[in-house]
Amino acid sequence: MGTERGELHVAIVMDGNGRWAEAHGCARTAGHEAGVEAALRVIESAPGCGIDALSLYAFSSDNWQRPASEVHALMGLAARFLREQAARAVESGVRLEVIGRRDRLPAPVRHAIAFAERATQGGRRLRVRVALDYSARDAILRAARRLPATVATHESFGALLASVDRGTPVGPVDLFIRTGGERRLSDFLLWESAYAELYFVDMPWPEFGAVDLAEAVAWFRGRSRRFGGLVPRRAHPA
Ligand code: FPP
Repeated sequence: MGTERGELHVAIVMDGNGRWAEAHGCARTAGHEAGVEAALRVIESAPGCGIDALSLYAFSSDNWQRPASEVHALMGLAARFLREQAARAVESGVRLEVIGRRDRLPAPVRHAIAFAERATQGGRRLRVRVALDYSARDAILRAARRLPATVATHESFGALLASVDRGTPVGPVDLFIRTGGERRLSDFLLWESAYAELYFVDMPWPEFGAVDLAEAVAWFRGRSRRFGGLVPRRAHPA
């Protein structure tokens, strides 16, 4: 998978939008809007940092518990992001994919996903996987229910897991970033992050930018990754 091919997969929990908005005297939805801007900065700078795949946690399955107005705003932002970024993604060689359940998403979001995935499927420079209605535990459970006897390796189970969430196969997460000061995984890519390096920063997501991404990747490149063995493997030369 990705690591053997030397690809770099970075996952990000974009946390802290609400607290950022509160600190600026705005509604929480303004924090999410600023969060989209931060996501765009990170997407633009990712290829320059050597990143091949970027998984962004935009809406967890547990986020349905939030007030209807916030859920509505987040769904609107996701649909707008996918529609508006599709053309820009085609130009910059970015392939947009959405992972997670689709059956509970509003129709405009499902249409925007279909549009963006179709339009950008030829992108080879960077894969951006936006997680919507995503729960790693739920995905593992659904994959386990479909498990044929032929799926007997971590790699083949990983491919099955990607397929239950409509994703194309992707390598393991190498670097897992979480902004906003919390130090937890929150049900994001649990299987894929088995050997991920965890990077936590206190700054809220709307303040995160290209320099911060570059710093995280530089820190990652300095890590000694042994994958349970004794010999460090340098899978990602700069
Ligand atoms: C967590 O912050 C963030 C979310 C639940 C939503 C993340 C969504 C975006 C950044 C916008 C959508 C992005 C794309 C790419 C479509 P929080 O609201 O839990 O913040 P808090 O912990 O400060 O309250």
